[in-house]
Amino acid sequence: MNVVLLGPPGAGKGTQAVRLAAHFGLAHVATGDLFRQNLREGTPLGLEARRYMDQGLLVPDSVTVAMVEARIDQPDAQAGFVLDGFPRNLAQAEALDRMLAGRHRRLDRVLALVVDREALIRRLTGRWICPSCQATYHVEFNPPRIPGVCDRCGTGLVQRADDSLETVTKRLAVYEEETAPLVAFYRHREILTEVDGMGAVNDVTARLVGVLGG
Ligand code: AP5
Repeated sequence: MNVVLLGPPGAGKGTQAVRLAAHFGLAHVATGDLFRQNLREGTPLGLEARRYMDQGLLVPDSVTVAMVEARIDQPDAQAGFVLDGFPRNLAQAEALDRMLAGRHRRLDRVLALVVDREALIRRLTGRWICPSCQATYHVEFNPPRIPGVCDRCGTGLVQRADDSLETVTKRLAVYEEETAPLVAFYRHREILTEVDGMGAVNDVTARLVGVLGG
């Protein structure tokens, strides 16, 4: 099963993709995470991506598409994947079609998380992440047991550089302009399901699992 999780910044794509991947035995492929991993490792790709991410802009398609293509060829993605953060514009959606067709694979379902703007801003500006194991928390909605410390590995939590209110506002505008048109694109293909992303994390997971027939 190959699934795309679509939604604006803060909709809960990362939170839910981890759960869906575990539930259905799929690889979690998150372009934002891949860029941040490259950045931590100081690779040329990471340094290139940072110039765009810090401003809330999309990284150029050529860089992003090649990175996803390499990732879906990894052994763990052969049984299927949950794509989180890709595609993000029409050119990337078409590139995804080409890369899957070339591998005799196809996209089974696109799940679009629907969350209101006020909640998105609250979620992003209150998010804390573990720089070591990448676990995600929220100061209010999903706090760690010990404030500021990762439950899983004990590392001190940090905020993402692009979660300032100014950059969040820019990211939301980029989403509306470049990514939101993909909802109509996939609806036309009859593989889109819009899912209410408001409410408790477990409730949203149950809705998504229900749509995928799990
Ligand atoms: P990326 O890392 O993909 O960021 P994003 O799409 O902006 O999404 P986020 O990670 O901010 O949010 P999310 O929807 O995953 O929410 P989360 O689960 O964390 O991309 C970052 C940058 O990389 C981009 O700006 C761009 O520069 C570049 N990039 C990435 N992909 C690219 C591409 N394809 N092309 C070009 N450039 C690309 O949840 C958010 C918070 O809310 C957390 O604190 C969480 O605990 C909390 N939360 C989650 N669910 C709930 C709930 N139900 N109730 C309450 N709180 C909740």
